[in-house]
Amino acid sequence: MTSRRSFLGAAGGLFAAAGTSIGAHAASKQAVAGTEAFFGPHQAGIVTPQQSHCYLAAFDLTTEKRDDVINLLVAWTDAANRLSEGRTALPLGTDLQVPAPDAADVMGLPPARLTVTFGFGPGLFIKDGKDRYGLATARPPELADLPRFNGDQLIAAKTGGDLCIQACADDPQVAFHAVRELARLSYDSAELRWAQTGFTSNPPDGSTPRNLMGFKDGTQRPADIEKSVWVGADGPAWMRGGSYMVVRRIRMALEHWDRTKVSFQEETMGRHKYSGAPLGLKGEFEPLGLDRTDKDENPVIAENAHVRLGNAAENGSADMLRRGYSYNDGANFVAERWPPWRQGMEYDAGLLFICFQADPRTAFVKLFGKMAKFDMLNQFTTHTGSGLFACPCGIQSGEYIGQRLFEKT
Ligand code: HEM
Repeated sequence: MTSRRSFLGAAGGLFAAAGTSIGAHAASKQAVAGTEAFFGPHQAGIVTPQQSHCYLAAFDLTTEKRDDVINLLVAWTDAANRLSEGRTALPLGTDLQVPAPDAADVMGLPPARLTVTFGFGPGLFIKDGKDRYGLATARPPELADLPRFNGDQLIAAKTGGDLCIQACADDPQVAFHAVRELARLSYDSAELRWAQTGFTSNPPDGSTPRNLMGFKDGTQRPADIEKSVWVGADGPAWMRGGSYMVVRRIRMALEHWDRTKVSFQEETMGRHKYSGAPLGLKGEFEPLGLDRTDKDENPVIAENAHVRLGNAAENGSADMLRRGYSYNDGANFVAERWPPWRQGMEYDAGLLFICFQADPRTAFVKLFGKMAKFDMLNQFTTHTGSGLFACPCGIQSGEYIGQRLFEKT
């Protein structure tokens, strides 16, 4: 079989010679409008201003060989950088008698601010008690298996994964194309375990986008991104400047939600629906004012309101960057156990919750452990998918993603 390197050697240049390009920026190495740099101290797609579409895919490694994993990461790095620049995943050849190295379905489209973010799941380090790649001792304690949370109804086929790719772009086809091309490169060493599309519609006036429940989502951001999101000097070298990503596929009982009074929805969330302001206040960005009480001396924002339970000040400063997307997988008749009062046709739609943090044990696990027990929102939500991934630090040109992990272990 032709190795990837020899293939590149043979096909390199033909792409340019054929004059074929994907996007207007095809041959340019320069950062141009509409592109997000792939290389840098941090991986793109974490603090990058949120694009409107996401395609998230988790993979199981099928190979037993460490070198195969390294070769895959080398290939993924190169392709991800090319795709981010609006080029094909691999150079196109001129031989029409062979499968094309890139599906070309985004030919003519701009890069759409594509970012490709890679994550390593626990299974890369140890799986079923087996240290497949000699990495078991390098598994960071932060990458501990997520506990079972109250109310979890996780579907195995939408949970976990040894590797993860989060592709975000302002065009849904560009995001899907990126994962599809990277998945092709993995055929000999990994297989797709699950995938999820997501979308968010940014209002043209720059205001906070709304989730499918009609509430502004993304108002609160960590006070200190550096400290809350990025792994610092106390982490292993390959994670310094990296972050831990938690993904939850959260189905919403929209039919039920739509029949509840707005005032009840606001009580549940702890914010006003239309303005996004904390309950009883006017401005979206006013502090929550959690100490405020009403005339009966009850808290204005209830003890079990979503924003109170999630607030950093109420949780020993636990903070995270949320970067979720809505999802819509159509409607189905599958009689999932929730919600129990309606087993007929329902939307399979909700939130592809994605968050980034320096330590999930003191951020997501801590916050959601409490939310899962007490949050009023729980009566409208079911967590059906889950994943925790270590997203290594960013890299420079010439390095491959995760290189510092493999070199040191
Ligand atoms: C379908 C599920 C969910 C919905 C609809 C939802 C919706 C919201 C909304 C509307 C806000 C207020 C606006 C904002 O600050 O962005 C918010 C805040 C927040 N949510 Fe969620 N959320 C969901 C799940 C979760 C989960 C699983 C977590 C995990 C810990 C979480 C953590 C937070 C945090 C930390 C805040 C900010 C609290 C603060 O103001 O300090 N959310 N969410």
